Amino acid sequence: MTDFDTVDYFTDQTLVPDPHPYYDHLRAKCPVTEVAHGVVAVTGYEETADAMRSGETLSSMVALGGPFPPLPFEVAGDDLTELIAEHRHKMPMFEHMVTMDPPEHTYARSLLNRLLTPARLKENEEFMWRLADAHLDEFVADGRCDFLASYAKPFSLLVVADVLGVPEEDHKQFRVVLGADRPGARVGALDEDIVSANPLDFLDEKFSAYIADRRREPRDDVLTQLALAKYPDGSTPEIIEVVRSATFLFAAGQETTAKLLTSALRFLGDNPELQERLRADRGKIPLFIEETLRLEAPVKSLFRLTKRDTSLGEVQVPVGKVVMLCPGAANRDPRRFDEPHEFRLDRPNAREHMAFGRGVHTCPGGPLARVEGRVSIERILDRMLDIRIDEDKHGPRDARRYEYEPTYILRGLRELHIEFTPNDEQRKPR
Ligand code: HEM
Repeated sequence: MTDFDTVDYFTDQTLVPDPHPYYDHLRAKCPVTEVAHGVVAVTGYEETADAMRSGETLSSMVALGGPFPPLPFEVAGDDLTELIAEHRHKMPMFEHMVTMDPPEHTYARSLLNRLLTPARLKENEEFMWRLADAHLDEFVADGRCDFLASYAKPFSLLVVADVLGVPEEDHKQFRVVLGADRPGARVGALDEDIVSANPLDFLDEKFSAYIADRRREPRDDVLTQLALAKYPDGSTPEIIEVVRSATFLFAAGQETTAKLLTSALRFLGDNPELQERLRADRGKIPLFIEETLRLEAPVKSLFRLTKRDTSLGEVQVPVGKVVMLCPGAANRDPRRFDEPHEFRLDRPNAREHMAFGRGVHTCPGGPLARVEGRVSIERILDRMLDIRIDEDKHGPRDARRYEYEPTYILRGLRELHIEFTPNDEQRKPR
């Protein structure tokens, strides 16, 4: 049995399939408590919300890596603000907004706010309806699939591509290079040149070229809006700054949404009654997405660094501590959610979950991910009847075997094999 008082959350694989008994143990001890590597783990709902809103005292410079790699400076003095400003560029991902603090963060995020406008999201939803059917057309007749590889990954990738205005003729190339092509798809002559490209270099090159092109010759398209966006003070960002804003969306928006969609399908496959309730009342699909996000928050841990001595809940945390926030743990705090480990479609406060964070770094893609969930589930219920978990792959109902990504940062299945009856008399797509 794992000893929860000494286990190393960051490396111990026994916590991967189900981290919740561990989170419950920590929360019962104290919702703000020290764990391995001197990290202060926050597992309570109010304490997590509080920490996410405390940008004044908590820096995001360690948001993604947590205790690894080590800080690029010795903690000295009672305020780290200047040391952070001086050294943060030595940390991985320093150039992306998620690791920035205001005012730098405010600038970087303003470019994104100009892109993710309600009008743009509306157009993107139109695209999603078409895209959902295009993906389903690829495999529905087979009556089975690995849902993650066949649908969730390519769908969430191409939604981000469309939000950014990547022309549709380039979508296939994005799918191949970013590892979301159809399983078993033949790599054609064109693909062979690009299949071996490094995904990050590919994105940088593609977007640098798009932005430079649109600055030279503006067109009536989304990439032009992005290329011509200005900072709040009216200055024009360097091309590289725009490119970073754009490419980070792929990192932040693809895996997370793919994990959400896959968890949703697992709940449907494991629960025929739930499937029937949703088929009978499509209006409940948004609630279903919220409850899935609450129970299976795709971002498992994110981190902050205390800039000064501070208090979280009732606990004093000294300067220079790495603080770990676990949305999935906050989402199952019994002080906030009744019977927190149960899936309840009618849970009145499901939407209060913390899966998208809070405060200045709140996920700007939340509205998008919610629509991706709604559109996908609508079309999946239309086109797949009697969705079942593939028992050859995942075992019988009372002894399922699900394998999760072996990481402390994200939570999601590595694959999800389902079977279903193709619906020939499907409702017309919207
Ligand atoms: C279910 C899907 C998603 C989940 C669970 C999720 C979760 C999160 C969380 C928890 C944060 C806060 C990180 C922090 O406070 O340190 C975040 C930030 C972010 N997310 Fe999402 N996200 C999802 C989808 C998306 C999508 C679809 C996009 C864009 C297309 C996106 C773009 C971003 C960006 C750019 C940030 C950084 C924001 C900032 O630092 O100001 N996310 N996300």
